[in-house]
Amino acid sequence: MSRFRSIIFISGNGSNLQNIIDNIKSDYLKMDIVLVISDNYEAKGLKKAKENGIETLVINTSDKYIDELLHLMNNYKVDLIILSGFMKILPKVFVEKYYGKIINIHPSLLPKFKGLNTHKKALASKERYHGASVHFVTSELDGGPVIVQGKTEIQENDNEDALKSRVHQIEYNIFPLAIKWFVENHIKQIDNKCFFDNEVLECPIEHLSD
Ligand code: GRF
Repeated sequence: MSRFRSIIFISGNGSNLQNIIDNIKSDYLKMDIVLVISDNYEAKGLKKAKENGIETLVINTSDKYIDELLHLMNNYKVDLIILSGFMKILPKVFVEKYYGKIINIHPSLLPKFKGLNTHKKALASKERYHGASVHFVTSELDGGPVIVQGKTEIQENDNEDALKSRVHQIEYNIFPLAIKWFVENHIKQIDNKCFFDNEVLECPIEHLSD
């Protein structure tokens, strides 16, 4: 059987990308990354991809890029598209073409705090918990069915940086886990719902910290 093929989209640092690469190297994730795409020439994650021998592509999203991108992606026979800190919204035509094959990591306990500045928003609204979610992507921003979440309790003297760093640690656990479930065919997106082993998930799986 041929190896499972993924494409990863990034915009910045790429620490989740590096974590996915490490999980492939350790054989926890039995898949390949056939391409890393960034909308930002300066994304540090591009270097991480290149250092690991992964092909990279920078796209200019201010231009009419989508037809060209879709055309190019046809050459890759992709099984899964992973949005790993990709800061642009992919157009509907893209999301529909790859429906059920796109997952994203978002730094909040969705449906709370969609969009940007999630750590700041969680602190400002005096939440007891904050965290991260992995979800299937639909054309509603951060609105697709959530697969798995991990949470951290907000402390009295918490600040954005401390919270961000704890949320990143959660991401390093839940993202590879969700990807593994997808690769091993446990999870599916059907009718805007997430199914795990053919049972609909009424609520996201909660990942307890190790
Ligand atoms: C992560 O916090 C992710 O949830 C958000 O963007 C950040 C990317 O971090 N979507 P990195 O580039 O993987 O370090």
